[in-house]
Amino acid sequence: MGEVLAATRPVEVLARAKINLALHVVGRRPDGYHELDSLVVFARIADQLQVVSGDRDQLEIAGPFGHLLPTGVENIVVKALRSARDVLAVAGHDLPPQAMRLTKHLPPASGIGGGSADAAALLRLIADRYPTSLPDLRIAALRLGADVPMCLDGVNARVRGVGEASTDLRIAASMFLLLVNPRVEVSTPAVFSALRHRDNEPLPEPPSGGFSSASSLATYLQCCRNDLMAPAINIAPSIGTALEAVERAAPLVARMSGSGATVFGLFEDPDACRLAAERIAHLHPSWWVHATAVSTGIHDV
Ligand code: C5P
Repeated sequence: MGEVLAATRPVEVLARAKINLALHVVGRRPDGYHELDSLVVFARIADQLQVVSGDRDQLEIAGPFGHLLPTGVENIVVKALRSARDVLAVAGHDLPPQAMRLTKHLPPASGIGGGSADAAALLRLIADRYPTSLPDLRIAALRLGADVPMCLDGVNARVRGVGEASTDLRIAASMFLLLVNPRVEVSTPAVFSALRHRDNEPLPEPPSGGFSSASSLATYLQCCRNDLMAPAINIAPSIGTALEAVERAAPLVARMSGSGATVFGLFEDPDACRLAAERIAHLHPSWWVHATAVSTGIHDV
């Protein structure tokens, strides 16, 4: 990455969609946050963030969902830049002003990373430039949001706690995800508040070597849930409609990601995944529907 953050040519980083293949709520902390145990993978579909040094900090947002987001200090990417500058200042580094351009392909507030992924993408660029600051940037990431550290790591993983504890998970086979969002935004705190049981059992121990086939992952996932799915469907019944549409395409697993509203189907066959996406998009033109692959890591393209 070299002198990325003092560069005069923009550098681009991808903010991949994160999908919770399983999410168990295993406890509640005194501060009200919930302890989770989740299997997280990243998809090829991503927002793009371009960064170049400028006269002042600036964020411009383009892309299909760009108009839905603020560009000022309330944007999590701007907050991430400020946090990173504070972290670096303590270590004696001066982070110059940055002009940022975000191209928003992922629907915001939809359970697949969104703003967390975008903020993490910026922190990744900065961590690549200042590697010794990575541990402090990771702490700053958690303050920005529970999903930001896992997006900063950017690797398929089992994630525990409130998002801070992560164990890499090897997924050696190619797998495909049908993502369907019925274009309803659900409030994450509202979904957590509506939970009936907050002390569920943890995920079964994944195999130490990870998963070498889609079917072995699917068998494992049959024993897991997303505990946030029932309360989210209660709040927004169209999530249930989207789930039924995905189930009709006969994926290995169909489930909601995060606190919703995006649901996914896991496929071994890319053509079946793509055809299902085409069929659902045709039947529900107002929904966001996308077929993508499970990413094998932050460095794949
Ligand atoms: O940290 P983040 O901004 O992603 O979380 C949004 C809200 O979701 C929190 O304020 C909290 O109400 C709820 N939450 C939770 N437990 C988590 C993550 C989020 O209760 N592990």
